[in-house]
Amino acid sequence: MDLTERGARSARVAAVFDRVADVYDQVGIPWFTPIAQELVRLAAPARGERALDVGCGRGAATVALAAAVGNDGQVTAVDLSPRMIEACGALGLPNVEFQVMDASSPSLPPAAYDLVVSSLVVFFLPDPPAALAAWRSLLVTPGGRLAISTFAHRDPVWDAVDATFRPYLPAGMLDARTTGAAGPFSTDAGVEELVRAAGFTGVRTAHADVEVTFADVDEWQTFSRSHGQRAMWDAIPEADHDTVKATAGALLEQARGADGRLHLTQQVRYTLAESA
Ligand SMILES: C[S@@+](CC[C@H](N)C(=O)[O-])C[C@H]1O[C@@H](n2cnc3c(N)ncnc32)[C@H](O)[C@@H]1O
Repeated sequence: MDLTERGARSARVAAVFDRVADVYDQVGIPWFTPIAQELVRLAAPARGERALDVGCGRGAATVALAAAVGNDGQVTAVDLSPRMIEACGALGLPNVEFQVMDASSPSLPPAAYDLVVSSLVVFFLPDPPAALAAWRSLLVTPGGRLAISTFAHRDPVWDAVDATFRPYLPAGMLDARTTGAAGPFSTDAGVEELVRAAGFTGVRTAHADVEVTFADVDEWQTFSRSHGQRAMWDAIPEADHDTVKATAGALLEQARGADGRLHLTQQVRYTLAESA
């Protein structure tokens, strides 16, 4: 992939997140925030530290980082989607500087951060190894820490629901959860190797299950249109939306629990490392 293609791919991803920025993480389904909170907990920021949140979205990790480093510390939070960064302004965090910036080649000072955190971002990037190496150069050495989250396996019903989109998708369409089925993001070892190849040491993995529940297929659809999967809905001709929803709805019935709600589980992978 040459530089022009890489730029075009990043711009396409940012455009999707621009489109969903108003509703992203705002539809009443706890998802990005608990995933990011666990990432920050594992990264263990200390008071006074300088932290960088790469691909901050609406601040799921930024808020936890800002609280942990306190007013003696400083958080820089960057995202390529201007509307995500705009929405972050409403968080009112005095120790955070938000900037629109490409995570692939951040224009930030070298060796200026104690901690780089990135929740559910790295698989969107056109060249993850190059981006990880760039992030490493931003960390102090020794002792700088990296903490990233990616998607591990999910339950079979959710797999089947996501598969209903596949016939409509152009080859190579990026979605965070479905591209995890192949390539380096399909295994712990694959992600660890990416991080190690970028020059990090002490690379290790932790996991946590995140369960979401939906009242019905409408609530699932609202959720799935509020984040990166929106790109998939947009790839389906309007006339076929009801068909996809009905197929997904029938599959989701298999996940209905005794409480009457639809239960789906995603395992999240947390990869942690040091700059040297
Ligand atoms: C799934 S969201 C995660 C956002 C946030 N970290 C969270 O946990 O809610 C992915 C984010 O990565 C951002 N992103 C994707 N490609 C990017 C790039 N090349 N540079 C910076 N941000 C990027 C998107 O705009 C989006 O906000």
